[in-house]
Amino acid sequence: MSLIKTENLSYVYSQGSPFQVTALDNISITIEKGEFIGIIGHTGSGKSTLVQHLNGILKPTSGKVFFEGTDIFKDRQTTKNVRFKVGLCFQYPEYQLFENTVYDDIAFGPKNMGLSKDEIDEYVLEAASFVGIKKELLKKSPFELSGGEKRRAAIAGVIAMKPEVLILDEPTAGLDPKGRKRIERMIADYRQATESTVIIVSHSMEDIARTVGKVLVMNHGKAEMFAGVDEVFSKIERLPEIGLDVPSITRIMLRLRSLGYDVRTDIYTVEQAKDELLFLLKERGVL
Ligand SMILES: Nc1ncnc2c1ncn2[C@@H]1O[C@H](COP(=O)(O)OP(=O)(O)OP(=O)(O)O)[C@@H](O)[C@H]1O
Ligand SMILES: [Mg+2]
Repeated sequence: MSLIKTENLSYVYSQGSPFQVTALDNISITIEKGEFIGIIGHTGSGKSTLVQHLNGILKPTSGKVFFEGTDIFKDRQTTKNVRFKVGLCFQYPEYQLFENTVYDDIAFGPKNMGLSKDEIDEYVLEAASFVGIKKELLKKSPFELSGGEKRRAAIAGVIAMKPEVLILDEPTAGLDPKGRKRIERMIADYRQATESTVIIVSHSMEDIARTVGKVLVMNHGKAEMFAGVDEVFSKIERLPEIGLDVPSITRIMLRLRSLGYDVRTDIYTVEQAKDELLFLLKERGVL
């Protein structure tokens, strides 16, 4: 049985009004336990709307969402349980830090789960350590933190609920390269340590391709592709058509190909490019 499944999921904002928008259009996907999924797509393609359905924050206009085979809107208790099992960290989550201390902010989720004080403490400290928030920061007001720290504190608030599925909506957006790398590494470590299912939303094919196993490409509310990273890159020429940037390294390979060099173009990391170029040079007897 798949962990998460959507069946003909559609969602319309402001239905019946002149501002009606079909944000999701008949999405049917399945996600297995332990998978590492990236969701990419142009602005407004429906990424945030989709992930908000996976933990029951939004209710489908039509179609269904299943968690471990059960319709998440079967009854109120089921929906409530799913919200703890599927942890969603919103886009720009730092705007939702509102408690007096960082500790209380991270503890917000575990408190709602009805855990004891000791358990809450344990969950908060573990989550803070995962995201690299030092103990002395926990006593501070969230507003005293740097941008990167705020982002990590917000992510800790979701991790602290020990969800089976962790969903992060654009976790690195707006951060500098160092902050981005740090969060990327943290997500990879978290995944390895907990073996949980992780879903990351991103604008950048380059960021996604480096880390995830499978990619869902959203385009105007539709699931355009849902496949392994390599398979998505084998259809590279489709990406610009659906508003996605081709990674710089892939563009270099495409350019070499257009100049007559017989190189692979389904390449998306510098490492792959290095191997391919060394192979080409050896083949030509240059090396
Ligand atoms: N609260 C809302 N009310 C009305 N329309 C909305 C609302 N939120 C999103 N939309 C519309 O739904 C569509 C999908 O939006 P969504 O935020 O899911 O896209 P996205 O892929 O996450 O975009 P971005 O990359 O900018 O975060 C867009 O056309 C958007 O304008
Ligand atoms: Mg979004």
